[in-house]
Amino acid sequence: LVQNITDSTNSQLMQKVQDGLVNEPGYTLVAEAQTAGRGRRGRNWYSPFAASLYFSMYWKLEQGIQAAMGLSLVVAIAIARLLKQQYQVDAKVKWPNDVYVDGKKLCGILVELAGQAHAGCDVIIGIGMNIRLPQQALDNIDQQYIDLAYASGQAIDRNLLVALLQQQLIMLLTEFTHNGFSCFVDEFNQYNQYRDKAVKLIGNTEVQGICLGVDKQGALLVNTAAGIQAYFGGELSLRPG
Ligand code: ATP
Ligand code: BTN
Repeated sequence: LVQNITDSTNSQLMQKVQDGLVNEPGYTLVAEAQTAGRGRRGRNWYSPFAASLYFSMYWKLEQGIQAAMGLSLVVAIAIARLLKQQYQVDAKVKWPNDVYVDGKKLCGILVELAGQAHAGCDVIIGIGMNIRLPQQALDNIDQQYIDLAYASGQAIDRNLLVALLQQQLIMLLTEFTHNGFSCFVDEFNQYNQYRDKAVKLIGNTEVQGICLGVDKQGALLVNTAAGIQAYFGGELSLRPG
């Protein structure tokens, strides 16, 4: 479904799922602009008209809520693969939910639960990908960013991108639903922006160490003063250390 201007494609799709209007995994809603685009923890996602992709897809998490971490990482892998295959762009992923090119943010992923956390729970996968941002973005985004037109050096057909993204996501998420995250660990680690680098994790805990990659559950492995520790996403943010 394509909308013109909406508050947030994640909110719109969530409402549809809760109203029982959507139950086919892979169902996708896109918009041209958002007036209340969201990032994690209520942060704002800058969403000007026709300048980005505002994309939300419904998925059923058959394995239950504990698989949400892996799902979000598989989404990042799907995006990185597509960028490489279609646009020859080398993207990196920042655990747990962002895609970077040349150290700048290209794309954010926001996975939200639509309803109760039970086996076979409903999730909304929100993706914001910058395509060709206007100058004013400089005043609206408080970190370094990049857009796909610049990163790839080509004009981007957003309709084609939506179709390819949906196809790639359905393919990898179907594999994830059947086989879990373990077969994606190596690929995630190859795309990992901070692989073998010094990092700090901030949030409800604060630790420093060397980022080793992720484990079979998608938890982040950090070699700290207290040995190798595994951290689960949610409220944590990864930064250079
Ligand atoms: P983390 O996810 O590690 O906590 P983050 O700073 O990337 O870190 P998010 O909540 O993932 O935080 O994303 C929201 C942030 O993304 C905003 O605070 C802003 O800095 C940035 N941002 C907002 N809109 C855009 C955009 N269109 N393109 C790139 N970055 C954006
Ligand atoms: C992040 O980096 O924190 C995630 C940003 C996710 C933005 C997308 S745009 C489409 C969808 N609708 C929203 O309100 N947010 C996501």
